Amino acid sequence: MASEFEGRDGFTSRFGIICAAAGSAIGLGNIWRFPYVVGDSGGGAFLLIYLGFILLLGIPVMLSEFIIGRRGQRNALGSFKRLAPGKPWFIVGVMGIVAAFMILAFYSTIAGWTLHYVLQSFTNAFAGKTSVEINQFFDAFHTRAFLPLLWQLIFMAMTAWIILSGVRKGIEKYAKVLMPFLVLLLIIMAIRSVTLPGAYEGLQFLFRPDFSVVDSSVMLAALGQAFFSLSIGMGALITYGSYIRKQNNLGNISVEVSLADTLIAILAGVAIFPAVFAFGLDPAEGPGLIFTVLPNIFQQMPGGYFFSIIFFILLAIAALTSSISILEVVVAYLTEELKLTRRKATIMAAAAAAFVGVFCTLSFGALKDVTISGLDIFGLLDFTASNLLLPLGGLLIVCFVGWYMKQADVKDEVTNSGVLKVRLFNALMFILRFIAPVAIAIVLFDSLGII
Ligand code: TRP
Repeated sequence: MASEFEGRDGFTSRFGIICAAAGSAIGLGNIWRFPYVVGDSGGGAFLLIYLGFILLLGIPVMLSEFIIGRRGQRNALGSFKRLAPGKPWFIVGVMGIVAAFMILAFYSTIAGWTLHYVLQSFTNAFAGKTSVEINQFFDAFHTRAFLPLLWQLIFMAMTAWIILSGVRKGIEKYAKVLMPFLVLLLIIMAIRSVTLPGAYEGLQFLFRPDFSVVDSSVMLAALGQAFFSLSIGMGALITYGSYIRKQNNLGNISVEVSLADTLIAILAGVAIFPAVFAFGLDPAEGPGLIFTVLPNIFQQMPGGYFFSIIFFILLAIAALTSSISILEVVVAYLTEELKLTRRKATIMAAAAAAFVGVFCTLSFGALKDVTISGLDIFGLLDFTASNLLLPLGGLLIVCFVGWYMKQADVKDEVTNSGVLKVRLFNALMFILRFIAPVAIAIVLFDSLGII
């Protein structure tokens, strides 16, 4: 078995892979980012476009990443070098590493807020507060310097510690118990939310499409959110793909992980938006949305004290199983290509990402006036990584599999050397060659004003 992975570490069961890939996909992207982007983008129409992108672009890109990783048996950059020696394709890997730093930087800001809310839930800090007071509480907290930075560093240290101590496999064991728990909690919260007086307006906002609000920037936001939520476009799943065994069905894994990820995002939407309208809050509130909405829901739930604690803990764990997949991209590169020890690589990468992260966190307070074309540091990193680098990476990834790789090799990976009967292979190739690259290019370049 060691030879199967060329002496590298690998997932040993199909279930382990699903947990790791779903653990990567399901995170703050579903519960924090999805509702806030839906809110910013006007609701229902965005949701439909988002679902279309997941189906038509997300699943094919995810499958492509797995194909590249399992074929290449290296980190994101190394896999390209190995499959396309002497060609510039490795630049996709370089872009991925840059994106990984950016995402880790702002992801840890939000994960830090989540940790703070775990503690606040324990001390029952939201008890008896009105929605206005909950808003003020959040404002007072996230615009400060020291406390959010402290939580951010704690989160980054936890991420690094997991990557270092190899309890990554242990996390998968936790994930399989805790993620269903998270789903259960979300269902309970969604039920509470939709039964609030005035909830209907929120459901309308989420599910009744108004296409008059759709412009090229909404399309780009949907594309970026789809890629961010599925963890695709920067090689995280190339890296994980390199740990997948030969007999696992890459197509099925891609579909199952994407489905689970999408259901959880929708569930989060159903929990958030009815409450937003019931409490008279602003759906376009921005990155703080869930932090101002959720405590209100817990206030209105029997046992809300416990629900709140458990929910924020689960959210923090979901964030951790995602952030390790981001850090792993950089660490796998540093250890395999630059031959650093795992320890050195982890500490260096986490420290560098934390350094960038400081500026993200402070951009809500001390540095909030530092803006470039209307975006603060946080917004700029999020936009550049999620809406530009991920789609561009995804575009190149599908082109690599669709056009550069030998079709026989692609078929070999998708069918596990002919063992699996894959009926839709020709359709898949058509999507990889034509539909996906053209669609991504149109959305990306249209919103940038290039076409
Ligand atoms: N998908 C994760 C989330 O929804 C975040 C994430 C993990 C990610 N790995 C990634 C995003 C790789 C982009 C690329 O929270």
